[in-house]
Amino acid sequence: MSSVDPRQLKIAAAAQALTYVKSGMKLGIGTGSTAEEFVRLLSVKVAEGFEIIGVPTSERTAALCEELGVPLTTLEETPHLDLTIDGADEVDGQLSLIKGGGGALLREKIVAAASDAMIVIADESKVVDVLGRFPLPVEVNRFGLAATKRAIEQAISDLGLEAPLALRMKDDAIFVTDGGHYILDASFGRIPDTRALSDALFAIPGVVEHGLFIGLARTAIIAGTSGIRTIS
Ligand code: A5P
Repeated sequence: MSSVDPRQLKIAAAAQALTYVKSGMKLGIGTGSTAEEFVRLLSVKVAEGFEIIGVPTSERTAALCEELGVPLTTLEETPHLDLTIDGADEVDGQLSLIKGGGGALLREKIVAAASDAMIVIADESKVVDVLGRFPLPVEVNRFGLAATKRAIEQAISDLGLEAPLALRMKDDAIFVTDGGHYILDASFGRIPDTRALSDALFAIPGVVEHGLFIGLARTAIIAGTSGIRTIS
């Protein structure tokens, strides 16, 4: 297995995650290309009679589930979920994550927090020793953008860190999340103390959410060229 199609690794991780799903479960369903492979495999099980109901973490995932016949609910109807399966942009050895590369971090965190367990599915390129190589998404209210950006820069500096902030764009327009917010991507390189950074960001009124997922994932299924390994 020297040169493996990256998509095959995503499918392998998604297939392994499916073994954790039991008929009757209420699921959180993630966002991104790896989570989409999970939805495709799940839809086959559903067509065979497997009974699950899912809460999607984005409009994009909702649309795919609807297209493939995966039954959906909402957190209003179903506020407590058994299991969330989702991808990640980075995973460290303690199962802390960076998420939000697809812009769905707010709903992803709400859904994961409403679940008894979260399983991360990823290919081996996502595994790092120290989080921060992937720019950290910080979701901010549109109101007061410049003031919030300035406050984030100050908070980063107060922690002795440096991270240029970039307003996320898509197709020459400012990217808007499903919740109607903007995203500032913060390029740290490495984040030595994720908890301190999380606390500092949450202390800023215009910050809605950030992409550090600490203490949420219970298991990570990592697919690599030499097979699948599980971190838990
Ligand atoms: C979506 O907002 C993200 O959190 C995704 O879970 C993350 O970007 C992983 O996506 P891929 O599976 O496409 O790499």
